[in-house]
This record gives sequence, structure tokens and C-alpha cells, in this order.
Amino acid sequence: DTVDWDPDDAGKGEYDHYMLKEIHNQPTSLSNTIEGRIEDGDVAFEDLAAGSFEDIETVQFVACGTSYHAAMYGAQLLRATGVRTEVLRASEYESMTGPVDEATLAVAVTQSGETADTLDAVREAADRGARTLAVTNVVGSTAAREADDAIYIRAGPEVGVAATKTFSSQAVTLALLTQRIAADVPSATPVEDRATMLEELQRLPEHVESVLETTDADDLARETLDSESYFFIGNGLSHSVALEGALKFKEITYEHAEGFAAGQLKHGPLALVTDETPVFSIYTGIGDEKTRTNAIEAQSRGAPIVAVGPDDHPLVEVADARLAVPDTHPVWAGLLANVQLQLLSYHAAKQLDRPIDKPRNLAKSVTVE
Ligand code: G6P
Repeated sequence: DTVDWDPDDAGKGEYDHYMLKEIHNQPTSLSNTIEGRIEDGDVAFEDLAAGSFEDIETVQFVACGTSYHAAMYGAQLLRATGVRTEVLRASEYESMTGPVDEATLAVAVTQSGETADTLDAVREAADRGARTLAVTNVVGSTAAREADDAIYIRAGPEVGVAATKTFSSQAVTLALLTQRIAADVPSATPVEDRATMLEELQRLPEHVESVLETTDADDLARETLDSESYFFIGNGLSHSVALEGALKFKEITYEHAEGFAAGQLKHGPLALVTDETPVFSIYTGIGDEKTRTNAIEAQSRGAPIVAVGPDDHPLVEVADARLAVPDTHPVWAGLLANVQLQLLSYHAAKQLDRPIDKPRNLAKSVTVE
């Protein structure tokens, strides 16, 4: 007798899928991302060949897919420091970019470092005179080689087509990068409570561990299975998490899912809301009022509301269900909410018997335009 053995399964260890393994790897991958980059309450970032960011006036983030959502997360943190910031879908770069010159930093956010749309956008920025920086997972990738500098997210290899641990590591790397840029740019104001924020970042791996140990995502996926559509809403930092939650959900479950800026729900999407459309409402503890009021609007049309975030929040009292995350600094709460949503997508896809690690029609890295 021979035993069926698929060499692709070799690295999964105790897990049924690479995706679950990679979700569970996040306490380790995040520790690696952070390692050595925080010192004495400050960001100690790599030496960059192109030098300090003091001459930079505009930062453009360009990315696709999940990396675009991480870029949105970073862009919002940078904007809060007063640095002029754009975040562009790489495929739209030519038509959407503002003016570019030597005082522009174009940051390519790309896990693989090989996405054609992203490489193309950053080449275009370089042609127009921008300084370029690759934020990537792959040492020696095209993005890393071509850009003036590269910063590695150190997430380790990711096999599942649906990006999970690389999103978390990108968001954290970009958050650190924003603090480094803000420290260099003379007109920027670093975040007021930076020391607390960085202290809490060092606890992020243990907070992720606690989400993994206590999650109700499997049960909640079962309770909401066979819904007509799955909505994810958030405002501020949670907006990017809502978009990422919906992308992950549609990628691997093949169910219809959409992410919205919470305040936009009433400008159209509300027409779709019924008791068959659960609304996953993500919040961090700052600037969440619009998420609460719009979630309540959806609820009064019959939609079940799932509150995804820390305990101490007004949304918790009105919600029909919870995906809870530990108390932390609001800058990191969205990343913990995202881990819950990764698990939700995973369990829903598993219950639907989908080929989780290799969803139909999708590729890990898209090298055509
Ligand atoms: C593909 C993958 C996505 C990924 C996107 C960008 O579409 O399926 O998971 O987010 O490419 O990839 P990158 O390697 O540039 O981060």
C-alpha cells in the first residue's frame, strides 16, 4: 500500500491549512517584526542608504489587495503627524497621483515584492523624481532591489494565498516607519503618547496570543453561515480593517462580503441591509462614534450587529454578538480585531468546505498588469 502524500502539505504541521498555521504564527512573526526596532521608548529603525527623511514633504503609499489595506492603516497614522500623505491603489497610480518631485517619498507596500501593478507605480514615481522605499517580506525581491531603500517586515514565508500574518507585520512596520518619518520631518508632530503606544506594541504578540486562545470566531461563523451578504464597517483606523475583513471573507468563502466606511452605509448600501446581512462593526476606542450610530441604523433594519473590538465601548451594549479583543492602545486594537476577522473567514470557509489555501482564480502574487 502507498500512503497519499501531497508534498504541498509538508509544512502544515498540526494545522489543517497553511492559513490557520499562519494566523497562529502571528505572535512569533510580530515579535520578529518588532525585534530591535524599539529602544528606550523610541523607534530605532534601520539605517537607510538614502539617509534621513528630513527633506521629504509628501509620502505616497502604493499597494494592491491586502497590502493596500495595510498601507491605508499606515497612511492614517502618518497623516496624524501632519505629513502630507497619499495612499494609492497601484493600478490607479497614473491617474490618481498628485504632483511628484524630489521631495516625494513613494513607498511600495508589497509582501512579495513582485506585484506588477505596484512595481509599475513605483517605477513611475521614480521617473518623476521621487525617492523610493520598498516595504516587503521578501529579501532580494524586485521591489527591494529597485527601490532606493528596503525595509523588511520579517513575517517569514507565507504559503496561503490569502495574506494574514503579512498584513499584521506590514501594518506594524508601517506604523514604526511613520514615527521615524515624523521624527525626521521638521514640520511633523510625533504622536503625543508615543511612549505608551510603543510599550503597548511590545505587548501586541501576547495580545494576539490571547485572541487565538479565547476566540469565538468558529461559533460565530456557524451562526452567521448562509447569510445573504456580510458587511464590515469601521471608521478611522478601523475602516482599513473593515475593508481587509471583507476582502479576506470573499477571497476564501466565495460569499458576498463588502467593507465600508461606517458613515457611508446610509449613502446607498443600507438598501441591501436585512436580517440576512450581519454587520461586523470594528472599533478601536478612538473616533468610533460613526461606527456606533451607523451600526444602530443597520440594526433597526433587522441586521445582526457583531461588535469587533475591546470590551469597554458603547457598541458592546447594543451588539447582538461579540468578537472581543484585549484592551490596548487604540492604534493596535484594529490589528487585534483583524485577527478575529481572519479567524472568522477561516472558519466560515472551512464550514463551507472551500479550498482555503488555494482559492479559485487567485494567485499569491500577480505578476501581470
Ligand atoms: C494578490 C494576492 C493578495 C495580495 C496582493 C498584493 O492579489 O492574492 O493576497 O494582497 O496580490 O500582493 P503583494 O505581494 O504586492 O503584497
